[in-house]
Amino acid sequence: MPSLIARRDQFFKNINDQGIALTYDDVRLTTGHSEVLPDDIDVESKFSRNVGLRIPIASAAMDTVTEAEMAIEIAKLGGIGVIHKNFSPHDQASQVAKVKFHLNGLIGKPICFNQNVSIEEILNTRKQKGYAFHSFPIVDDEHRLVGILTENDFTFCENLALKAKQVMTKNVITAKPGASLREAYDVMKDNKKKSLPLRDKSGKVAGLYTFSDVKRILVGDSKTFNVDKTGRLRVAAAIGVYDDAFARLEKLIPEQVDVVVIDTAHGDSKGVLETLKMVKKKYDVDVIAGNISEAESAERLLKAGADGLKVGQGPGSICTTRIIAGIGKPQVSAVYECAKAARRYKVPVCADGGLKYSGDISIAIGAGAHSVMMGNMLAGTKESPGDFRFHQGVQYKVYRGMGSLGAMESSKGSRERYNQGKNDLIPEGMEGMVPYKGPVKEVIHQYVGGLRRGMGYVGARSIEHLREIAQFIRITEAGKAESHPHDIVITREAPNYQEKI
Ligand code: XMP
Repeated sequence: MPSLIARRDQFFKNINDQGIALTYDDVRLTTGHSEVLPDDIDVESKFSRNVGLRIPIASAAMDTVTEAEMAIEIAKLGGIGVIHKNFSPHDQASQVAKVKFHLNGLIGKPICFNQNVSIEEILNTRKQKGYAFHSFPIVDDEHRLVGILTENDFTFCENLALKAKQVMTKNVITAKPGASLREAYDVMKDNKKKSLPLRDKSGKVAGLYTFSDVKRILVGDSKTFNVDKTGRLRVAAAIGVYDDAFARLEKLIPEQVDVVVIDTAHGDSKGVLETLKMVKKKYDVDVIAGNISEAESAERLLKAGADGLKVGQGPGSICTTRIIAGIGKPQVSAVYECAKAARRYKVPVCADGGLKYSGDISIAIGAGAHSVMMGNMLAGTKESPGDFRFHQGVQYKVYRGMGSLGAMESSKGSRERYNQGKNDLIPEGMEGMVPYKGPVKEVIHQYVGGLRRGMGYVGARSIEHLREIAQFIRITEAGKAESHPHDIVITREAPNYQEKI
């Protein structure tokens, strides 16, 4: 009996041997014996070699989809946002900083006071600057940590003229720089301390954890958040090739961007391969490269050191690449081929574009993807950038391709994605609008809910398990018609099903 992976390989081989490639509407996953309940299913995955996901969803690097507001919300829901590159390097880095500073896991540069400053002066500064917190590391003239002032010290201090060194707690419990959120939590809990300064080798303050923030991230409402080691929301940023990549990295790295995505329409190109190698040599950051749709392209990028692959050439709802250029491969086959090539390298694959319903997420992962990237399915939400439009009494938001005329005319980032100069543009995308969908939290709830149901039907307990056991069946036009609601006038829309425009 061939393994389930071998059976799936055979299915795609048979299709490929006929010179055919398939996309979402061509296939379904077969149901299998199941002992899992949708709510017990684990949907954690990976976006790149070292960057995890709590839900396998990324928001697209598009100027009508992902800026800081979307990236914050999507990371809070467990996914990751890729900040688009129609920003200048400086502005793009500011967007990344907004996401990274949204939660205070580790305070990198805590407010410290010199030991000779009086309690009154500290309280006045606190009031003036509007600090909501009470924990201040106290340092000597060489900025070495000598004590800490906490809320209790202020509460029980009767003489405000006393100096910090006379009131502070002297035996400070500290941790080393690099202590993780979990380590910090355990130390503070064991010692019943509300704050934990990090002390470097020279005795200087290298950061501060506060118990309330760390607890909120680890065990509070925020346990679904996708956070880095220090408890800050994860975020990605798109970069171009050569100078563009380095100009952006110079600004993005200090803001601690978690992963960068070399975001081009043709990932199997000299520019991408050379840039990838140069970035990996110079920086210690995960790099996802794309977009591609062929196994050989995956192989080349993997050999060049890619920490993740982004697959999709022309499946997007706003894409016209396949029509204008006549190239591309239907998305399910493209994902399968690239993911198969990536198996040996243990590098995650993101299926980018072309998803219309939550069931497509199950299919993309069944074909080998570790995550999906959504443009259209997240456009038109409260958190997506752009204005509302009213059309025949219905609320819409703008959604446009990064290769659309509007995006390319207004931005170098877009032109570079499609390797074009300033004049005589050849667009590869469209501009339009999509119905307003409400808060992204509600749509993601439906998308992940649909994925869990799919995994339940297949019998997969985790994303890895789904990637292992998923089996495909090809459906006909009649099968597709049967799959959608039919022979009924819909009187009430469901939150997870709309007839497509
Ligand atoms: P969806 O289907 O989610 O696709 O709307 C989003 C993905 O489409 C890609 N993209 C484009 N592709 N012309 C293209 O050929 C474009 O103008 C364009 N803009 C975005 C991109 O990979 C995105 O994540």
